Amino acid sequence: MFNIFNRKKENNKLFYHTDVHCHILPGVDHGSKSVEQSLAMLQAQLNMGIDRVICTSHVTAGTFENTPQSLGDAYQVLKQAVADANLPVELHYSAEYRLDEYFQQERAAEHLIPMPGNYLLLENSFQQELLGLDELFFELRIKRYHIMMAHPERYSYYSRRRQRYEELHRRGVKFQVNILSLAGYFGEGARSNALWLLKNDLVDMLGSDMHDLDHAQVIQDYINSKEWRKKIAPALENRLLNDTLK
Ligand SMILES: [Fe+2]
Repeated sequence: MFNIFNRKKENNKLFYHTDVHCHILPGVDHGSKSVEQSLAMLQAQLNMGIDRVICTSHVTAGTFENTPQSLGDAYQVLKQAVADANLPVELHYSAEYRLDEYFQQERAAEHLIPMPGNYLLLENSFQQELLGLDELFFELRIKRYHIMMAHPERYSYYSRRRQRYEELHRRGVKFQVNILSLAGYFGEGARSNALWLLKNDLVDMLGSDMHDLDHAQVIQDYINSKEWRKKIAPALENRLLNDTLK
């Protein structure tokens, strides 16, 4: 007999199909620890409607000093595993570059790996905005890179001066907001910044920033929520750039 209480819960899907920020390459940062975990994370992405994944492992001074070689090797291993497992996912790799001395070194050595569309995913310091940020972005743009700021809502120093968001955006910086932030995973400050960016039409890309399956579950639960379906998705449906990166 039909019983609505036994009905399996439908998993809602995202309205776009490209993730521009995640830590799915195995063994190169504190994201996926193994190829098996990477495949499970990619399956979680597929379940939420993502079939094009740009892997953006950390590149950070002191902790994750990845190189084109280390990231390229991990990508080849995962790409082979994806083919062997017959997962219908298009895989790319780039990086999430922390703006620190290692970034400057890699930039000087011309080791940067942009994502499709020639975007660089750049992460600010969490303590304070880098001195000379505008000049750095200007120099990168001269080199024909497009700037995608990783999770601008998570830098608490912008809460007190949100006009800085508008200024950066006017100068061509694109903003990638984390779904995890909207879901409240990083606390009320990040969530409130994310909602402010949304309200002011300053969200250009969404990202999962998925490091593990727990993150995947938080995201899936959130996109099943009424807030996502009624408020967030309709506001972003016609403006996200995720699927335009080519
Ligand atoms: Fe990240």
